[in-house]
Amino acid sequence: MKILIVGASGLVGSNCLKYLSEKGNECIGTYFSYAAKNTVFFDTLNLDNPNNFDIDTFQPEVIIHCGALTHVDYCEQNEEESYKYSIVSTENVIQLAKKFSSKIVFISTDYIFDGENGPYDEQAIAHPISVYGRHKWKAEQLVNNSHLDNLVLRITNVYGDEERGKNFVARIIDQAIHGQHLTLKLPIDQYATPINAADIARALYLLLENQKTGIYNIASTDYMNRVQLALRILKYFPDATYDLLPLSTSDINPPAARPLQGGLKSSKFLNEFPDFVFSTVDEYVQNKVSS
Ligand SMILES: NC(=O)c1ccc[n+]([C@@H]2O[C@H](COP(=O)([O-])OP(=O)(O)OC[C@H]3O[C@@H](n4cnc5c(N)ncnc54)[C@H](OP(=O)(O)O)[C@@H]3O)[C@@H](O)[C@H]2O)c1
Repeated sequence: MKILIVGASGLVGSNCLKYLSEKGNECIGTYFSYAAKNTVFFDTLNLDNPNNFDIDTFQPEVIIHCGALTHVDYCEQNEEESYKYSIVSTENVIQLAKKFSSKIVFISTDYIFDGENGPYDEQAIAHPISVYGRHKWKAEQLVNNSHLDNLVLRITNVYGDEERGKNFVARIIDQAIHGQHLTLKLPIDQYATPINAADIARALYLLLENQKTGIYNIASTDYMNRVQLALRILKYFPDATYDLLPLSTSDINPPAARPLQGGLKSSKFLNEFPDFVFSTVDEYVQNKVSS
């Protein structure tokens, strides 16, 4: 398959680029502000940017849209920018997919829910409580209503290998490995289902190979809050020194509301792919410690 991965300098996109290429697909991955290894420039906000990679000559059969502004609090305080990065960018990617009759894959989130009663399945009613969540939900609907062959993957709390090592799990591991003292002030009441980006790529490969369409939750069996997640990592670093202050979300009072009992159930995906085994945070950290 010829696959264009928009946002391949980021966590999810880079893992998709690596895995789908390894599986023998012809992949092009794009960056916007950070020129990661093996990526080409593409701006989803300006399809006429003369520096954009020439998609016309590539003619993708699949476009995976990982481009986004993912800083939830920043989105809350910069609503117009969030609108552009989530909604306008998705409209533009839909336009591209229509031009090339490509399948479109959109990456969504459990932030489309209010966090009253997660983890959520695919039938749960969306009720976003933040600007980021509302914009992702709107973008998801645009993809659903596009009449394109489409897949929506809902994910949350992603960790894993990425060039910039910016995700929560990778940062804690990095500091612990380098013997740095950690000061962590973390919410104890935000529950979700952390997932390795490499698992998202493996799951997406199966969905594409089997011509699946529609919404799929991709979530591991881990269900934990941020404090539990940090402690789960730190238990593999007995010499690590840290101050960990558990706080309630109301004490932290972030600009954007958070779904507290969030997370996703991937029973639909697992019913269709019963041999698939999601990895765990423990496995990821163990691997890092032993490598
Ligand atoms: N990480 C999570 O926990 C999580 C949870 C739920 C859903 N998601 C969704 O998963 C998707 C990928 O997230 P991620 O964690 O991989 O985020 P990320 O690491 O921040 O990557 C975002 C990507 O979007 C690119 N991008 C930003 N603006 C762009 C533009 N105007 N044109 C083209 N590309 C642009 C970035 O490029 P540069 O970095 O080069 O600027 C980067 O490659 C997003 O849709 C996000 O909403 C993520």
